[in-house]
Amino acid sequence: MKRDLVSVLDIKDEFKEIIDLAITMKGEHKDGMDIVPFKGKTLVMVFEKPSLRTRISFEVGFTQLGGTALYLSPNEIQIGKRESVHDVAKVLSRFADMIMYRAFESKNVVELAKHAEVPVINGLDNVEHPCQAVADFMTMVEIKGDLKGRTLAWVGDGNNVLHSLLYGAAILGMNLKAACPIGYKPDEEMLTKAKEIASETGASITITEDPVEAVSGADVIYADTFISMGDETEKGSRLKAFDGYQINMDLFSKAKPDAIFMHCLPAHRGEEVTDEVMDSPRSVVFQEAENRMHGQKAVMIRLAGLR
Ligand code: CP
Ligand code: NVA
Repeated sequence: MKRDLVSVLDIKDEFKEIIDLAITMKGEHKDGMDIVPFKGKTLVMVFEKPSLRTRISFEVGFTQLGGTALYLSPNEIQIGKRESVHDVAKVLSRFADMIMYRAFESKNVVELAKHAEVPVINGLDNVEHPCQAVADFMTMVEIKGDLKGRTLAWVGDGNNVLHSLLYGAAILGMNLKAACPIGYKPDEEMLTKAKEIASETGASITITEDPVEAVSGADVIYADTFISMGDETEKGSRLKAFDGYQINMDLFSKAKPDAIFMHCLPAHRGEEVTDEVMDSPRSVVFQEAENRMHGQKAVMIRLAGLR
């Protein structure tokens, strides 16, 4: 049966294995030992929103594995508008061996995956960003080793990236403390699910409104934009609500002395993070960005059942 990656939960039982595979494949790539199992295969990438990392990391990664990647920009397919999600899924399945979809609506990703006959990978929607979580935990494992008992602190919006990190941390037994203002907390149902998983792996999940409480003693500090793609009309109210949620050196200094700083990027320097933190030696944001490619190569290999 074909497999998809719509939510981190779709790879729950092999999350750590995929991270380990990504680290192995990164090493193979650096040694010039890439395998080419996707020779003659095509990845179709459908974007409803802009992208730097996701577009390039999927295209370069799939090419390294021997295949060809096709980029469809926001104006092209217009899923659900020009043509139904069902019909797009059926047509793409006749051409593509794998589909990556960046969407506004999570329900469209779910539906595309349901009707497509080839694996569908969520390249970010309004609910989750599972590929980001794979790369992020891969980066944390590279730097910190075993993540059990370590603490990841999130400061900012209870958004798609946080949702995927909540699942990933719970699965890996890593504690997660998130500081989000009132009205911007993560989804209740997803939080409950993450806590359920955390109770099995011995991790704790704490949601607070206090950034200092979240980062105190943490191993990893994580920031994302206050204004996600699709939220642009709320810019004014959001900037007001997130006043005090910026990661600056003062806040960073409350974490462990060897704590690292992470950001999925794009960063809005001077908003959610200062230049000083972004450019500090403990910022690992570009290693994290690179790992998007290695993580996704491992995901694609795994979904195709090749390793
Ligand atoms: N982090 C991330 O997904 O970046 P892009 O929006 O540039 O793809
Ligand atoms: N939360 C951000 C992540 C961008 C990679 C957004 O959805 O725009």
